Amino acid sequence: MNNEKRILELKQKIEKAELGGGQEAIEKQHKRGKLTARERIDLLMDPHSFQEIDKLRTHTCTDFGMEKKKFYGDGIVTGYGSVKGRLVFVYSFDFTVIGGTLSKTVGEKVSKIMETAAKVGAPVVGINDSGGARIQEGVDALAGYTSIFIKNILYSGVIPQISAIVGPCAGGAVYSPALTDFIFMVRKTANMFLTGPKVVEEVTREKVTSDELGGADVHGKKSGVTHFTCDTEQELFEGIRDLIEFLPQNNTEESPVAQTGDDPHRMCVELNSIVPENPNKPYDMKQVIQSVVDNGNFLEVHKDWAQNIIVGFARLNGKSVGIVANQPRIMAGVLDSNASVKGARFVRFCDCFNIPVITFEDVPGFLPGTAQEYAGIISHGAKLMYAYGEATVPKLTVITRKAYGGAYCVMNSKQLRGDMIFAWPTGEIAVMGAEGASKIVFAKEIKQSENPDETLKAKIQEYRERFANPYVALEKGFIDDIIVPENTRFRLIKALEMLKNKRDENPPKKHGNIPL
Ligand code: HXC
Repeated sequence: MNNEKRILELKQKIEKAELGGGQEAIEKQHKRGKLTARERIDLLMDPHSFQEIDKLRTHTCTDFGMEKKKFYGDGIVTGYGSVKGRLVFVYSFDFTVIGGTLSKTVGEKVSKIMETAAKVGAPVVGINDSGGARIQEGVDALAGYTSIFIKNILYSGVIPQISAIVGPCAGGAVYSPALTDFIFMVRKTANMFLTGPKVVEEVTREKVTSDELGGADVHGKKSGVTHFTCDTEQELFEGIRDLIEFLPQNNTEESPVAQTGDDPHRMCVELNSIVPENPNKPYDMKQVIQSVVDNGNFLEVHKDWAQNIIVGFARLNGKSVGIVANQPRIMAGVLDSNASVKGARFVRFCDCFNIPVITFEDVPGFLPGTAQEYAGIISHGAKLMYAYGEATVPKLTVITRKAYGGAYCVMNSKQLRGDMIFAWPTGEIAVMGAEGASKIVFAKEIKQSENPDETLKAKIQEYRERFANPYVALEKGFIDDIIVPENTRFRLIKALEMLKNKRDENPPKKHGNIPL
């Protein structure tokens, strides 16, 4: 065969590989309302940047007539390219090839991508649309999955790992996304569950649709398994691109800095009047965040789950920061089990990747009651405490109003190694709210008085004057300064600059034992 023929042969193979399971299967995929593996990569990566690896690999199974059912690429497209100019690795399950199922070969292709990404220190995006383990391959498929899981685990905290769920993701297959840092999921065409509706009905007699069991809204609002819910695949991949921009490439890099054009000296005058006079009246903490951060640009994570706490990424004078904030608009910003877990996971992610954490605090405490106690609020709240306490990144707090009780301790207090704790003059730092505190401390006096209602009112007022302000905490050095709200942006930026070379270490250990 001469060179020309050899080149032609290669080109024909490439052409065939790029059709995955073939034209008919591609049309079927589109009819299901889904994009193909390659179309998805095109949406994720910068134009013409994608370089494929293992394009002509095939599976090696010879059981059940599989030797006659071979396709180049075998159920997955893998490679690397750039996202907004930065190196990113990707694997994208190809549903047009045997339902994008996981064979030994597919497992090896994914492993190769992950190992290379870890070696060069770049994020990995996994795009999931798969029927799960390829049944014909038996234990080879299971071993293939597990070889991916172990890499998810070992590279956790080394390179950012992001999952897209854009089709079925069932059985053990859900565990790879669950081990990654962030999961994006699209409505209608995607679902995620350990056991499908048929098995659920067989075992528990519960009748449930795929969407009710594991649709995007279920995981975005109820279980909190996913972090971002999108209407279309286009929106989903745009979202992943936006997220990557906030992240460093790996754990040895500093949090990235971008040119945002927003003036670091900008005053946020609107913040002077945002906290209502009545301490029981809510306000929207998202407005505080948007006012402070560069150009109001805030990428919220877990937007629809545990909304009493807000977490997400933003920039301050160009530098990527993680924001954690109580939301007085939802359940008065109280901390419950879900909010604690949500906050803890986010703080730990930021700490893994050297992203400073900024906390906006207005929290009346932990949610009382049997429902929360039975759900293990003690352990969940401890997770948030642990996450803040162990984090060595720069940690700043702004107390806008309430910082009560255990929640004061947890939300990046000075004693948890908070670097700089600011309070607004509206800050109230106390063991609990004035009303509850007065009823306990002055119970006898109130009971014995001629007019208990009036006495209670007077005692509440007395307590409020003494403790419902930030000055006592300032005098004792538990907060570092009381600031005029309009200066918040500038003061945070200055504190971040001061902390730029912060070095902090935890005692040597294999790893801690976070209360899981
Ligand atoms: C082999 C499979 C397959 C599988 C789908 N296919 N799942 N082949 N092993 N697990 C094939 C189908 O035979 C079909 O081949 C093609 O993929 C497309 O599938 P369809 O059923 O036509 O598509 P659709 O109607 O969209 O349904 C998709 C689906 C369904 C919901 C994913 O196929 C399904 O329920 N599959 C089984 C899912 C499952 O239970 N997987 C095992 C999970 S256990 P043809 O040739 O007709 O195009 C698991 C263990 C992992 O994964 C443990 C790790 C620890």
